[in-house]
Amino acid sequence: MNFEFTETQLMIKETARKFAEEELAPSADERDEQEKFPAEAVKKMGELGFMGMMVSERHGGAGLDTVSYVLAVEEISKVDASAGVIMSVNNSLVCWGLETYGSDYQKEKYLKELAAGRMLGAFALSEPEAGSDATNQRTTARRDGEYYVLNGTKNFITNGSTADVVLVMAATDRSKGAKGVSTFIVEKGSPGFVVAKKEKKLGIRSSDTVSLSFEECRVPKENLVKEEGFGIKFALKTLDGGRIGIAAQALGIAQGSLEASLKYSKERTAFGHPIAEFQALQFKLADMATNIEAARLLCLKAALLKDQGQPFGPAAAMAKLYASKVAVASALEAVQIHGGYGYIREYKVERFLRDSKITEIYEGTSEIQRVVIARSILD
Ligand code: CAA
Repeated sequence: MNFEFTETQLMIKETARKFAEEELAPSADERDEQEKFPAEAVKKMGELGFMGMMVSERHGGAGLDTVSYVLAVEEISKVDASAGVIMSVNNSLVCWGLETYGSDYQKEKYLKELAAGRMLGAFALSEPEAGSDATNQRTTARRDGEYYVLNGTKNFITNGSTADVVLVMAATDRSKGAKGVSTFIVEKGSPGFVVAKKEKKLGIRSSDTVSLSFEECRVPKENLVKEEGFGIKFALKTLDGGRIGIAAQALGIAQGSLEASLKYSKERTAFGHPIAEFQALQFKLADMATNIEAARLLCLKAALLKDQGQPFGPAAAMAKLYASKVAVASALEAVQIHGGYGYIREYKVERFLRDSKITEIYEGTSEIQRVVIARSILD
């Protein structure tokens, strides 16, 4: 066992911290208020190698490990959880899947651009009737000569309207159920690819969440990922890694809540003392710090297992389940510590509370994480 980070990992963490402070912090509240996508910042994240962190250098990525990725997502999300999810989806759900299962043509044409941050990706699995029940895909793809023709609707798609390419799961043979689903790379602007509805959300309001519809949308057959029938395995395997990214995002929100609370409780006085001197406050801060450290260790363990090539799905589910719970609890406690100031927009903890909730929902609800964990321990 070794709890020390490498010099590279520490350098990545510091670069992410500095970037978040300088490039994200000044506009995070305004972008949240205006529901504005951080286009410039995402471009800079690409230049820093943050959009394809674990992709090999020969495919345009930074060639880093998952531990570095966790450190970077935490630092970014500590300041701006919207930027955290934009980054996590591109890295974990899009780049990882393409590097692992994509063809040479797909890697050359799409992965290199996505990993370098010159293109942005989205992942379209969820549908109105396929959320937790992900295998119940209604979107269809029928073969027509050199093309597949897609029809259907996807919803809650992060990066959906800003993405240059979307990985779309669709049934190529509905009679085969989960074994009849396939994955397609669909370019923005393809005829029949329609951005249907932008969602107005409780939190992560600066990230882009939309419904997409496919109406006789023609996709070249070269854009099928791996083979027909591989779509559900592709999606669930990819989500195993995605859950490490969301766990790290949750960790960032929790750490941001703690740091804001530490600062405020040293500055705010009541009854003639800084409130940090009261044991009631100290116990809250101590509990937050302990829970956050436990969440961090779960995230890093899942990341390390992935880096070592060991099975990591249940560990990722545990990390996401626990870190998301800690994010919500820490943000809630931070609002309480700030009192009335915690309830108004001027103090960031109000945003942290709104942002935290989604980490218990997307990339598999907490209930689904428990299903994954229970299956692994009952095996
Ligand atoms: N890796 C690879 N394959 C897997 C897998 C994994 N982790 N988990 C299951 N599979 C395989 C199974 O082996 C099975 O294949 P076989 O029949 O060949 O053995 C197939 O996938 C179907 O699996 P199950 O029979 O276990 O399916 P199920 O319906 O019982 O349950 C589930 C699966 C765990 C509930 C799954 O549907 C699930 O994780 N649901 C949640 C979906 C989710 O996380 N959605 C997030 C949307 S994306 C998002 O949020 C992104 C964003 O914008 C931020």
